[in-house]
Amino acid sequence: MYRSVARLVNADPGEIALAQNATVAWQWAFYALGFKSGDRILTTTAEYAANYLSYLQIAKRTGAVIDVVLDDADGRLDPQVLEMMIDDRVRLIAITWVPTNGGLVNPAAEVGRTANAYGVPYLLDACQAVGQLPVDVAALGCDMLAATGRKFLRGPRGTGFLYMNRAPAERTEPAMIDMCGATSAGGNRYTLPTDARRFETWESNYAARLGLGAAIEEALAIGIPRIERRVKALATTLRALLDEVPGVTVRDLGPDPAAIVTFTLDRMDAASVAARPADRGINVSVSSPSSTPIDSERRHLPDLVRASPQPVPDCVFPKWSVGHGETGLLRGVGTAGLGMSRRFT
Ligand SMILES: Cc1ncc(COP(=O)(O)O)c(C=O)c1O
Repeated sequence: MYRSVARLVNADPGEIALAQNATVAWQWAFYALGFKSGDRILTTTAEYAANYLSYLQIAKRTGAVIDVVLDDADGRLDPQVLEMMIDDRVRLIAITWVPTNGGLVNPAAEVGRTANAYGVPYLLDACQAVGQLPVDVAALGCDMLAATGRKFLRGPRGTGFLYMNRAPAERTEPAMIDMCGATSAGGNRYTLPTDARRFETWESNYAARLGLGAAIEEALAIGIPRIERRVKALATTLRALLDEVPGVTVRDLGPDPAAIVTFTLDRMDAASVAARPADRGINVSVSSPSSTPIDSERRHLPDLVRASPQPVPDCVFPKWSVGHGETGLLRGVGTAGLGMSRRFT
């Protein structure tokens, strides 16, 4: 599994820690950093709620400050604004690459170049990106990256991973340790593994981990660029079809959005809209404002219907099976050529 994850993100297997979800993987990295009063955390409007809540908690505990980088006219984090905001109090740049509430793709590699130029640690939430976009930690310039297995990787629920560059991993003390990550060295001493596995705890779901490894191998065999082209084309078709429907507003942002399409209907709430297509085997879900608090507050967003087109066996990759774990839930929707699944949104 470690080798599969490493191959997926162009890392070394020793730079990978397996987790029970992306949130925990992200927390392992974040809570190990150590903040003090006045330290600044730079983040983005599209930040995922769990990450933002962690910033709030650390700000409350330590007096660290959260600064949100303004977006450009297209709704993406503006790298020039980011650079202007950097000073020697910036302790961390942490952003979400593709948010939970739409297809926006933040300029993750440009952020990495700035972070590296100023020597600021960079933590990237790649949860909605892995499996639909090529992920190369070297090209992204991130020190830490967290992701899940259950979204565009089409892996089992309850899987996730942390990438941590070997250099910081070797000197980073996890916020919590057990006898998986640490070994008692006699007396009052303990030692930690030299790699990212220092973050892991003893017990885990081996079956789910194997499923994650298999899902990654399958995605790599198909080819991530090929998957990206396909799901993006499906999302573009879906946005165009939705644009033609009176009363529908497509809500996701960005000049070149990825395959998460969010929309609202004028006279029907998102939950009622989402319930309808299930009868026809189309699974969509609802993204609530509380999942992306900064963006939702700024844009006054209500609940959004969220559709994440997937490559499905019968209409996209006819010769391949593309899923694992819970992929029995996958359904192809022949007429529009769109495949969506509740579990991927
Ligand atoms: C952007 C983003 N980050 C993190 C997560 C959390 O992933 P997990 O459920 O594996 O903890 C999600 C889940 O929706 C997400 O959309």
